[in-house]
Amino acid sequence: MPTTIETERLLMRPLNTNDVDALYKLDSDPLVMKYLGNRPVSNLDDVNFYLKNILKQYEQYGIGRWAVIEKSTGEMIGWAGLKFMNEVTNGHVDFYDVGYRFRPEFWGKGYATEATNAWIGYAKNQLNVHTLYASAHTENIASQNVLKKCGFIQKSEYQFEMYGENLACYWLELELV
Ligand SMILES: CC(C)(COP(=O)(O)OP(=O)(O)OC[C@H]1O[C@@H](n2cnc3c(N)ncnc32)[C@H](O)[C@@H]1OP(=O)(O)O)[C@@H](O)C(=O)NCCC(=O)NCCS
Repeated sequence: MPTTIETERLLMRPLNTNDVDALYKLDSDPLVMKYLGNRPVSNLDDVNFYLKNILKQYEQYGIGRWAVIEKSTGEMIGWAGLKFMNEVTNGHVDFYDVGYRFRPEFWGKGYATEATNAWIGYAKNQLNVHTLYASAHTENIASQNVLKKCGFIQKSEYQFEMYGENLACYWLELELV
């Protein structure tokens, strides 16, 4: 696994246990969690559990969601990256999903598009992935815009189960070959 990925305005690096407070700030914000099951975290245990799963992905698959730092301020604005999906999702299994999550004060600057394009390049050039996948809630227009700007094509609508509830999501794909 590389140690950093740099874009014009962002620096991305693997998350680590020192990022717990920054992740709490991100995931406790109701605006951030609006289309992600609407359950902002309310304690550090939840964040630690979630971080542990990301660190496990690094070990198992050599990749996972990474911290995203705004270069001009050095602030961690959220995360972005690939997740290897080993459970059946919309009829697919063992594939790479690209995703992102940023604090609202950093939205609308093109950062998600910039980070996603870097991860598309990584998936293609370093992992030789042929098709990259992504999901977005049907009402999450900003996320759908990011994916479409990056070339993803909306293929279907499905129900993603989260916290025992079904979220209506679009399924998007990007051919990399
Ligand atoms: C989704 C998210 C990462 C987008 O980040 P971002 O850095 O603001 O994205 P970008 O600036 O690269 O692009 C967003 C695009 O959507 C547009 N957009 C933003 N909010 C919108 C809205 N409510 N309705 C329509 N379009 C909207 C922007 O104008 C932009 O498109 P444009 O460049 O054509 O103008 C950010 O909103 C976020 O972190 N949300 C919370 C977590 C989340 O939902 N993650 C995705 C789960 S699928």
